[in-house]
Amino acid sequence: MIKSIILGAGKGTRMKSDTPKVLHTIFDKALLGYVIDAVNGTKLVDENYVIVGHQAEEVENYVKSNYENSKCVLQSPQLGTGHAVSMVLPYLKEFEGEAVILCGDTPLITSETLKEFIEYHKSNNSDITVMSAIFDNPTNYGRIIRNSDGTLNSIVEEKDATAEQKAVKEINAGIYCVNWGKIKAAFSELKTNNAQGEYYLTDIIKWGNENKLRVNAYTLKNNEEIFGINSKANLAEAYKLLNHRVVKQHLDNGVTIIDPDTTWISPETEIGADTVIYPSCYINGKNKIGSHCKIGPYAHLRGGVVLEDYVKVGNFVEVKKTTIKPHTNACHLTYLGDSEIGSGVNIGAGTITANYNPLTGEKSKTIIKDNVKIGSNSVLVAPVTIEEGANVGALSVITKDLPAWALAITRAPLRVLENWVSKHR
Ligand code: UD1
Ligand code: CA
Repeated sequence: MIKSIILGAGKGTRMKSDTPKVLHTIFDKALLGYVIDAVNGTKLVDENYVIVGHQAEEVENYVKSNYENSKCVLQSPQLGTGHAVSMVLPYLKEFEGEAVILCGDTPLITSETLKEFIEYHKSNNSDITVMSAIFDNPTNYGRIIRNSDGTLNSIVEEKDATAEQKAVKEINAGIYCVNWGKIKAAFSELKTNNAQGEYYLTDIIKWGNENKLRVNAYTLKNNEEIFGINSKANLAEAYKLLNHRVVKQHLDNGVTIIDPDTTWISPETEIGADTVIYPSCYINGKNKIGSHCKIGPYAHLRGGVVLEDYVKVGNFVEVKKTTIKPHTNACHLTYLGDSEIGSGVNIGAGTITANYNPLTGEKSKTIIKDNVKIGSNSVLVAPVTIEEGANVGALSVITKDLPAWALAITRAPLRVLENWVSKHR
């Protein structure tokens, strides 16, 4: 199996944040998580080494608690990308197979591309394959320098490039596949005689040529995949790009999305065909939405939501960790959290499941059985069960279980004082 080395020791100064760069999130998943998932998704890699430096402890905690097959390796101080990769030498002393090297801040890379990249490396019998891309504006990237016969010569960093080299539009995407056994000797020979005084990983291309290794480049098809995050503006753009990718997939699968630009759907949400998503919805976390549902406008699904077929979740409805059976409606202004809701239920406008006890910090469940009708502006104080067919009058606060087919109402009696206004005017 292949090993991966994921670089993430850099500071990320331009994020202007207390959070380490690779732990910034898109739909609540860390940038680094996207990269590790893409690598694991190839099913060709059995172990990931994440190079950490700045705020190493936080990154290490994240990796430890989320990825069993990933280990963090400290790089301190950070002397460049070549130095970063060399940190795994003690762990891969005996290893002779292939290693993929990539960055922890490019969350849009896909398993499909990595797979194709690795296959390309193998089928060309390559010792070093670098991923390249053609950019109209190549500024800031390392340039791919080719010989007149098209073979790879070297990579030159922007800061070290001549005017002629700067004009090259083929750039280094920062992803490599290498035969570890053959290239590990390079790390003791890298020099820092460059504009940044760093050990450049990119110098392995030149080193490979000098040592008669087979060096190749694979050209990326969709440039978006190596979009790197260096600032909050980049983060916002990546969020949008990922969202568009997800939305497009749902559209292809037969989901109706009225306004893709204001519909946000996490990659971990499944949606059945013929469901309609109205504008301005935010669907986060892991959810399963059936067919023929209507969501929004302005709905917020926070994860752990299962909507079976023909469920309506309307405007200003927030749903979290809740299962809803078919033909149930919650059309307006409602919070449903930690709930199990049956079929044929109507949740009136303004209904709240009060799931949180601020004294104990505990969350409790609300269970609503089939054909229950909850009147508007009611509060269901969890833990509570409303048995089948029971009705709750508008403006009620339900603090204990209701039997089937009962009516419960806690509203103060209506008083009508005739002519009261005219007397007091
Ligand atoms: C690097 C490449 C460049 C390529 C670009 C693609 C080098 C010398 N240059 O440039 O050719 O076009 O990526 O994005 O490799 N890092 C460490 N430890 C270090 C230095 C960096 O872990 O000592 C990590 C950073 O956190 C980052 C990655 O390596 O995730 C890339 O480093 P960065 O400084 O951004 O390299 P670039 O200048 O962008
Ligand atoms: Ca970079």
